[in-house]
Amino acid sequence: MEITGKRIIITGGARGMGRQFAVDMQKIGAKPYVLDVLQENIDELEKEMGISGKVVDVTDESQVVSFFKEYTDKNGPPDVLINNAGITADGLFVRKKGEEMKKLSMSAWQKVIDVNLTGVFLCGREAAAQMVDHEVKGVIINISSISRAGNFGQTNYSASKAGVAAMTVSWAKELARNNIRVGAIAPGYINTEMVAKIDSSVIDKITAQIPVGRLGEMSEISQAVRFIIECDFFNGRVMEVDGGHRI
Ligand code: CAA
Repeated sequence: MEITGKRIIITGGARGMGRQFAVDMQKIGAKPYVLDVLQENIDELEKEMGISGKVVDVTDESQVVSFFKEYTDKNGPPDVLINNAGITADGLFVRKKGEEMKKLSMSAWQKVIDVNLTGVFLCGREAAAQMVDHEVKGVIINISSISRAGNFGQTNYSASKAGVAAMTVSWAKELARNNIRVGAIAPGYINTEMVAKIDSSVIDKITAQIPVGRLGEMSEISQAVRFIIECDFFNGRVMEVDGGHRI
């Protein structure tokens, strides 16, 4: 797909990696539009880069359904969706400290599943419905993770990101008949706020396992986004961009 002039919706697009995608897509002539949870971050992006957005909770079905309808009525259907919004709530599955048995909480489980899995499902479904309805040759990109293989301290996140990878394949199989491609990216450890939250002693252990010897940069994941949009033969696969890291 030629990127110039295309309408690209990016969830979690006002901060971090999503913001990088929005800015990079705009630089190469696309029309990005972001969804995020904090109005102040959207305002800042609008002020600094002239990229608009809206506060939408991706876990809320009625908000997501209304947004995609309103967006399409106003601007036309999306050409590309980047399902990027994601959170972590890391913790060990069970750990005994002295006499106390600590367990990964139900709330840590549920909130990660709600945003990372249900949010991707809802936004993917509504974007696809608009694309199919308007016969758009669209592209959906889901952001999975290296953690989908099952990562230390990430039971909830790993389960969600494995689900995202599986949904990618299901949608690609179903939507090919509508000329819609679906792909995923599985970033490794990238220089983001999410990774900055990890204790430095732990991050040193992790970095030691990355063959290229460093964390990735957000711009390097953006390059993968661009490739998936532009390459019309990329479909139903998860592209790993992780410096050769295996977890
Ligand atoms: N590899 C090897 N060892 C690890 C490890 C890892 N990935 N993560 C933790 N450990 C080790 C710790 O160094 C520690 O070792 P010692 O007992 O020898 O000191 C041990 O496991 C227990 O860890 P903590 O003492 O930190 O235990 P805690 O209960 O305080 O915290 C934790 C547990 C929240 C899981 C914390 O260890 C942690 O944050 N780990 C990193 C988890 C992680 O990799 N998250 C990725 C976030 S970025 C992201 O998710 C984006 C993406 O797509 C990759």
